[in-house]
Amino acid sequence: MIEKIKKEIKEAIEQKFEIDSIVIEEPKKGVADIAIPLFAFAKLWKTSPMQVYDQFSKIVMEHQQVDKIEFMNGFLNIYLERQKLSEAILKEILEKKEHYGYQDVGHGEPVVMDYSSPNIAKSFGIGHLRSTMIGNALNHIYTKCGYHTVSVNHLGDWGTQFGKMIVAYQKWGNEEAVRKNSIAELQKLYVRFHDEEHQDPSLEKQARHVFSRLESNDETYFELWKWFKEESLREFMEMYDLLGVTFDSYDGESFYNDKMDAVVEELEQKGLLRVDEGATIVDLGQDLPPALIKKSDGATLYITRDIAAIFYRQRTYKANKFLYIVGNEQQLHFKQLKAVTDLMGYHFDIVHANFGLVMIDGKKMSTRGGKFKRLEDVIKKAIDESKKAITEKNPDLKNQDKVAKAVGVGAIIYNDLKNEKHLNVDFNLENMLKFEGQTGPYLQYSSVRIESILKENTLDLSNIDTTFYQEDHYFEIIKQLSQFPHVILKSMEENAPNLIARYIMGLAQGFNSFYGKQRINVENEQHKNANLYFIQMIQIVINEGLRLLGIEPLKEM
Ligand code: ARG
Repeated sequence: MIEKIKKEIKEAIEQKFEIDSIVIEEPKKGVADIAIPLFAFAKLWKTSPMQVYDQFSKIVMEHQQVDKIEFMNGFLNIYLERQKLSEAILKEILEKKEHYGYQDVGHGEPVVMDYSSPNIAKSFGIGHLRSTMIGNALNHIYTKCGYHTVSVNHLGDWGTQFGKMIVAYQKWGNEEAVRKNSIAELQKLYVRFHDEEHQDPSLEKQARHVFSRLESNDETYFELWKWFKEESLREFMEMYDLLGVTFDSYDGESFYNDKMDAVVEELEQKGLLRVDEGATIVDLGQDLPPALIKKSDGATLYITRDIAAIFYRQRTYKANKFLYIVGNEQQLHFKQLKAVTDLMGYHFDIVHANFGLVMIDGKKMSTRGGKFKRLEDVIKKAIDESKKAITEKNPDLKNQDKVAKAVGVGAIIYNDLKNEKHLNVDFNLENMLKFEGQTGPYLQYSSVRIESILKENTLDLSNIDTTFYQEDHYFEIIKQLSQFPHVILKSMEENAPNLIARYIMGLAQGFNSFYGKQRINVENEQHKNANLYFIQMIQIVINEGLRLLGIEPLKEM
């Protein structure tokens, strides 16, 4: 709502003076609600800021929601009609509830979001976890902005490594062991393959041969591959269950096996292919290394499958916008994907929403060789720790397991999403599980606190005195509430869930300091109702913010 007022004032002045460069600022707390710097116009019109102020003031005052204005240090300061504005903002939230903040800027346009995408027969890595959490949040955020999202888990289930896997399994594998420890066992075989390759270089050739048979649908190899995939997926699904994440499609790389010939043909037709030492490549000019489309033995590559995938997605989902939530280390790959499809004459809107590494004690976190065998164990540990904390704080709580899961998982998600995604993330379970500080549990706890106040008191909406909202400690938070739609929009435009993460943190902190100052259950009924109404609207926004991030809001904890 305040964004709307800012825009209206800006447009009114710009129209009147036929300019287009009015800057609208939000001054620091307590100064004014809105400020317009006047220096630039004074300079332009060769006059004083005071003169400009006089010119602008009439138009600004015409705005319904403006209470008063003043000239201060070269700025035109605007104070808004606090009471009416507060009523309007809170009413909007009350009416829209969790739909508050929805805005149809996408008009149902499809956006394909590619995230998580772990590799079959390999453990679910920390990078895949980041991709899953960021992707899931962006999915919610885009949906909230009126886009039609399609979430795709582009499983890494194809490539020469499966030739190696199959050879390794046939030489040293044990069915029983794979059934029992699936991914761990498969990974062991893969490691062994590489160890023995040093002694026996012919292994590499065998693997290539097997993969090329797999690419041409050899039945025995296909069955083995299928089995590896099933075993791996079973483990991945446990992870998605923990995180509460689902996908619209699990079409992985293998899905494009029969769709790559068409790509190669089209590249050929458009004269883009060149054979270089037996390999088939596309030159991408000065700035990028060529894209390798086929190896000399005819095997396709990661990028070949991504090119086939983007065409398939365009056709199937009628999409032109494609978001890839993948780590920083694949920047070159996505630049090449964009460059190849551009050369082919398509101008897809390809966004590589890249992210950094996860660090433990300053070192890159890796599940291999680390403290934990599997990432799932890390998440389970977070849940266990939350359970301990909860049983200590609230021994009578029902559904302790369910709450512990929401808190433990929420802590990991918040810790990841609170910073800009391209930066590295610190992973410290102890810190992220704390009930104070910039943590998920702190946010959930703030909402639960409001919940318990609301449970003890009944709100009577028909008996409210809204004059209290003019006081700073209310109005500052009400202004914050009115920013929610704007924050959502920005986080969509910048693919930055951290904006929402930071925003709800500010709101929760605002609530907690308000609560430290202001008694809720006051004598005056009308004041009390104003308080209850106010904190209930805060809760709606915190909860919806949490939901957008993929964190479960709680009623008790
Ligand atoms: N499986 C890949 C990896 O683990 C990520 C795939 C990302 N998506 C894509 N369309 N390339 O590195």
